[in-house]
Amino acid sequence: MPSRRELFRRAVIGTAVITAVGAGTLAWSSTLLGEYSVMDMGDGHADHGGHEAGASETSVASGTVGGSGEVSVTALTAEADRPADVHVELVARQETIDVPGGRPIEGYTVNGTSPGPEIRARQGDLVEVEFVNESVTDGATLHWHGIDVPNAADGVAGITQDAVPVGGRFTYRFEATDAGTYWYHSHQVSHEQVERGLLGAVVIEPAGQPASPADGTSDVDVVAMLHLYGGQHTLNGRAKDEHVAAEPGSTVRVRVVNTDQGTAAVWSDGPFRVVATDGHDVNQPSEVEGQRVLMPAGGRADVAVRAPEHGTVRLHVGGARSILIGDPDATAPPSPQPSETLDLLAYGAPAPLGFDPASADRTYDYVIGRRFGIIDGRPGNFWTINGRMFPDVPMFHVAEGDVVRMRIVNDTGDVHPMHLHGHHVVVLSRDGVAASGSPWWVDSLDVRPGESYEIAFVADNPGIWSDHCHTLSHAVDGLVTHVMYEGVTTPFTINGAAGNQPE
Ligand code: C2O
Ligand code: CU
Repeated sequence: MPSRRELFRRAVIGTAVITAVGAGTLAWSSTLLGEYSVMDMGDGHADHGGHEAGASETSVASGTVGGSGEVSVTALTAEADRPADVHVELVARQETIDVPGGRPIEGYTVNGTSPGPEIRARQGDLVEVEFVNESVTDGATLHWHGIDVPNAADGVAGITQDAVPVGGRFTYRFEATDAGTYWYHSHQVSHEQVERGLLGAVVIEPAGQPASPADGTSDVDVVAMLHLYGGQHTLNGRAKDEHVAAEPGSTVRVRVVNTDQGTAAVWSDGPFRVVATDGHDVNQPSEVEGQRVLMPAGGRADVAVRAPEHGTVRLHVGGARSILIGDPDATAPPSPQPSETLDLLAYGAPAPLGFDPASADRTYDYVIGRRFGIIDGRPGNFWTINGRMFPDVPMFHVAEGDVVRMRIVNDTGDVHPMHLHGHHVVVLSRDGVAASGSPWWVDSLDVRPGESYEIAFVADNPGIWSDHCHTLSHAVDGLVTHVMYEGVTTPFTINGAAGNQPE
């Protein structure tokens, strides 16, 4: 079997640099991708975030690293002999999706529907999901978006596992450490499989609280999953609005999940509070009125709405669907989308972060640009990261325990919902303005044209973690790189015999 380095050499062997005629200033790099390992990405300009390469890189994962100093992603698992508290079997099929209220489309289902079943667990539970691919011809996986699972359960084809072929199965095991709203989706050919329905919701209820629907903060608790099926805007898989019956004065927690490829707006003509973003509670959320909440692709917002004394109140979720809360027989007229946006940078009250971002061990730039090039024989206007085009993008090296800061800059004309796997990041500033509200923890962050964000996280979950744009057509066009812990290796490759194509 060829070494990883040999595979990577073969992968880039087709590289040709064409100097444009005329001014002679354009260098178009054309890369033919063969089989490659993500471990070899960033070769020659590995980014150590201000650390000298090789110096102090040996501190990784005492307890997870064997004597060799290396650990495979496959060894980074949940406690192996702990019995599962929640066990679910999810079967993926390639078939027609029935869209109630709309027309059927060709796509992917989980246990016969799309979205697939909602998984509910209690904080602290060991969740075990037996995934079966019955008929997805390209192979499929499940990624647990926003849940900081052990790396072996991250579900990224070609990095943490091989795509599960037709007839195959794979077991995902993780502890539900943080209460909140999450979702699962395939991470094999994800720009196709996610868009066509291979997804579902995950709700982790806080420990020590009564079971669903009441989680202690609300009387009724519902999921509002947004998805576009072949141009049809749906709410929980149906192309129609929903009614949630609620007693006057009671509070309904609506867990909005944006599974689409762009930003979604949430608003109401009555007051509401944003009680959580991306699975983290907002500290002392105030009432929002006359403003909309903008949710990045992949992001979640838990919104608490009070049922009115009479009739219902309408919560707009995405531009096309609503949830009517209150008297199930009443209705409420639509209200126009407010032009003013709630600024989460200054929403709620400050609280300790639990770490000091001022004493960062590593500092990285993630500058998003765009230029003409050819990837895999395909010419196009491709995304760049720190000026480099896929697969020549930087690799962000970290060691376990590091405090990491990252400056994300968007030098393009499109919004990029940036998503780091395996970690939650906290927003420190936007365009130089420091965060002043509740700690704003995210796993999906919209970075708009011209904006720059400073974020920080603690490297507390060893592995190789994808860090990409969640507009999945952008990811497949090269807006993806990785955070790699020193000492962690993967035996999996992209474009090899297993057919792994994570994006
Ligand atoms: Cu929700 Cu890498 O994805
Ligand atoms: Cu993007």
